[in-house]
Amino acid sequence: MVKKKGIKWVVKRDGMYWPSEAMKKSANMSDSKIYSKSMKNPVAFWEGLAREGLTWEKEWESKNAYVEKLPYFEWFKGGKINFSVNCVDRHMGNSSRTALIWVPEPVDEKPIILTYGELYNKVNRFANVLKKYNVKKGDIVSIYLPMVPEALIAMLACARIGAIHSVVFSAFSADALKARIQDAEAKILITSDGYYRRGKPESLIKKAKSAIKKTTIKNVIVVDRIGKKVRGKMFKDFETEMADVDSYAKPEIMNSEDPLFILYTSGTTGKPKGVVHDTGGYAAQAYWTCKWNFDLKPEDTMWCTADVGWITGHTYAFYGPLLTGATSLVYEGGPDFPNPGRWWKIIQDHKVNIFYTAPTAIRMFMNINQNWIKKYDLSSLRVLGTVGEPIDKVSWMWYFNTIGGGRCPIIDTWWQTETGGTLINTLAGVGPFVPTISGKSFPGLSHKIVNEEGHSVKKGNKGFLVQQSPFAPSMLHGVFKNHKKYVDTYWKKYKTMYDTSDGAYMDRGLIRITGRTDDVMKVAGHRLSTAELENAIHDNSLVLDVAVVSMPDKIKGEAPIAFVVLKSGKASKNLEKKLKSYVDSKIGPTARPRRIFFVADLPKTRSGKIMRRILKALLVNEEPKGLMTLVNPESVAKIDLILQGQNILKK
Ligand code: WTA
Repeated sequence: MVKKKGIKWVVKRDGMYWPSEAMKKSANMSDSKIYSKSMKNPVAFWEGLAREGLTWEKEWESKNAYVEKLPYFEWFKGGKINFSVNCVDRHMGNSSRTALIWVPEPVDEKPIILTYGELYNKVNRFANVLKKYNVKKGDIVSIYLPMVPEALIAMLACARIGAIHSVVFSAFSADALKARIQDAEAKILITSDGYYRRGKPESLIKKAKSAIKKTTIKNVIVVDRIGKKVRGKMFKDFETEMADVDSYAKPEIMNSEDPLFILYTSGTTGKPKGVVHDTGGYAAQAYWTCKWNFDLKPEDTMWCTADVGWITGHTYAFYGPLLTGATSLVYEGGPDFPNPGRWWKIIQDHKVNIFYTAPTAIRMFMNINQNWIKKYDLSSLRVLGTVGEPIDKVSWMWYFNTIGGGRCPIIDTWWQTETGGTLINTLAGVGPFVPTISGKSFPGLSHKIVNEEGHSVKKGNKGFLVQQSPFAPSMLHGVFKNHKKYVDTYWKKYKTMYDTSDGAYMDRGLIRITGRTDDVMKVAGHRLSTAELENAIHDNSLVLDVAVVSMPDKIKGEAPIAFVVLKSGKASKNLEKKLKSYVDSKIGPTARPRRIFFVADLPKTRSGKIMRRILKALLVNEEPKGLMTLVNPESVAKIDLILQGQNILKK
């Protein structure tokens, strides 16, 4: 079998995996004492990392390295920096090295390779295009692009001139895009005519056009990806604009604390919140987590399969690898197009060294004919990563053996949109790598597992995961235009500790994450809140009441299920279909409920609160508890009757 070829980067000892001598010798970080060393003075430690890892125009004064006035805190205050200079300009000494390998979905189209020199040229030009359309420092630019090189170019161009980008996932609907444009009050939108998915061109411009109606958007720059003619005065062609401007744009010197981007994410309320990330702190953590978690070196090719519409795409498909001077591989399309061997062929063809993906993808590939994987040579791989949801042992072992050939460490990174970079995981050169366990807090950071009152739980007991001061440099700096939401979501419960909303416990001195403790779910790795989905369904004029809960799904991890009380109209398969497409138009197909059940009544408490946990129990055939607290306990038996015979768990 070819896949067993390659250097062994791990060894097994005491039922765990550890870095091999070869790994320890070559790794960027292999000192297990780094944890205790860093915690002697975490601020000084991060100062050292920021100084060594980044290029600053001016350094901060040490007394301002970390200024904490909770719930806000600032890193490297007074430091001056430009983010695009750190991603591109400073690698110009090696300008012929590859920055980006872009693999289009159609197999007859050739990959596009961009060297650092070429990327530099394009970023500068696009920065001038933005300026031409009057985008200034501090303005917000909406980006609604699929995985194409222009997404990276546009983001870096924003950073060059001090504009703040707000990327919106291209599978989100026109309504979702509109809401984000309105909240950010963006003047300009960068989008494309479409993209290829599973062999077919999909339009994006139609959604973009509908989204910008009655918003602040004045100009739209359109990438020509599928050859569609886009008419209208507001719409400008990306390439034509690029050809028409100067090839150099002076980088705007920013404060370390200036915002670099906003990314909207789901919380427990219906409205997505704009998570704000700063420049210097975010850059420091993106750089060092790449270097130490994944042992990323400038000569490596890293492939993070996440879409740029999510935080993982921002930090590990684009920014982290570039800050490190490495090569990032980006693939446009579906994982099984034209066949389920596509991903593995890409790894073989482009000799990918670091591969970072989500458990949902791992589970999907675990369930296909394994010959699609076995026929490819994956011996270039050195480090594997996973992110987004807890990974079970069977999937972990499959990933380890089948993809890693039993040679590569698996880095199970725990983090969030809010944290900007990874916070808890094992370092490739340090170990140990234990199935289902994320590991330790990144050096210089600390987490605790506490009870409702904020006291540490007994070792091994389950509790709530919190982060302690000093808070990570890459942490969010607020919720855009919403101080209250920022305080309520992250600081209300524990005051001096950041509330992650995740559950966890300690296992052999390492942190094991059990998942969200609020109404946020992970569907195929995508973050969604039950409230957001409920709001969307509720907007439909036929709907009187709705509850959404998630149930376990073999591949997606979780799948949303909706219970709907109709105002009028007859429950039918057809209406279920109609409501599902209604969700597509409100949020996007990623949020589409797997099933919608029409019920007469939802189980509610006397105060009118829907008891979702009862619905959840019914879905998985468990005895629902707490029926005494309901005003309408009879609703439960009726719903149970509807669910019986549906075989929902098997679908
Ligand atoms: C979950 C994704 C278990 C967690 C980077 C968190 C994980 C949420 C892991 C954030 C992991 C992320 N193990 N659970 N390794 N990584 N999560 O904002 O519940 O899309 O709160 O960021 O994903 O999701 P988000």
